[in-house]
Amino acid sequence: MRDIVLAHVSPAAPVRVLDLGCGTGSLLFRLAEALPAATLIGVDVSPANVHAAQQQQAAGTPAARVRFEMADYLTYRAEPFDVIVTDGVLHVIAAETGVLVRKLANDLRAGGLLMCNMPFDCRYNRTFSLIRRALRRVQSPWVDRRILQVGRLLHGRDMDENGLRERVAYMYMPPARMMDERLARHFASAGLERMAEYPTPNTSLSQLRHRVTVFVRRDA
Ligand SMILES: C[S@@+](CC[C@H](N)C(=O)[O-])C[C@H]1O[C@@H](n2cnc3c(N)ncnc32)[C@H](O)[C@@H]1O
Repeated sequence: MRDIVLAHVSPAAPVRVLDLGCGTGSLLFRLAEALPAATLIGVDVSPANVHAAQQQQAAGTPAARVRFEMADYLTYRAEPFDVIVTDGVLHVIAAETGVLVRKLANDLRAGGLLMCNMPFDCRYNRTFSLIRRALRRVQSPWVDRRILQVGRLLHGRDMDENGLRERVAYMYMPPARMMDERLARHFASAGLERMAEYPTPNTSLSQLRHRVTVFVRRDA
């Protein structure tokens, strides 16, 4: 994501950047290093994630220009941004799609960029959505434990136990939306024009396949 942002934003530009659903802040910290004149805000609805990001910041990341806020994006208010990045988030926000897309458009200044990494419509993701829907019907502590076991087998080497446990909930969550023509039409009618797409490496069998799409906000 950082490299994709750098393909569209000059490192010297004094841009305002929002990372929507910033998690524990890893992307925002990388962007802060890569864009030394930027002001960056990370917003996340999870108090634990925002706390972890703030702790990491306090532990020495160059941070005068970086801020983390705990908020539900749907009710978050701020001056329009030059860039909104959002990695693995738009498909988990259970709002009406039109409402979410209009908010994204309103939170960008004219000419601003939205860069979103999210699942796209393909057979793998459709099948995976069905599996997640089926798992939701049989959700129980026993199924949680089985999911965790599979998670340990697949990712035990590169993810700690807390990270694995946090991700169990996602296995019950079919995506609220995927990047497809219907969603692209929502973006277009909100004034967000698709300008580029980038494949995202698929790091895990248990993850929906993602793609980064870049939109530019046309004048209202
Ligand atoms: C799959 S994680 C991705 C985190 C981070 N972007 C990353 O790539 O590591 C999804 C994140 O979106 C956040 N999130 C979900 N709904 C949100 C909302 N309505 N407003 C703000 N953040 C939200 C979750 O708390 C979680 O941190």
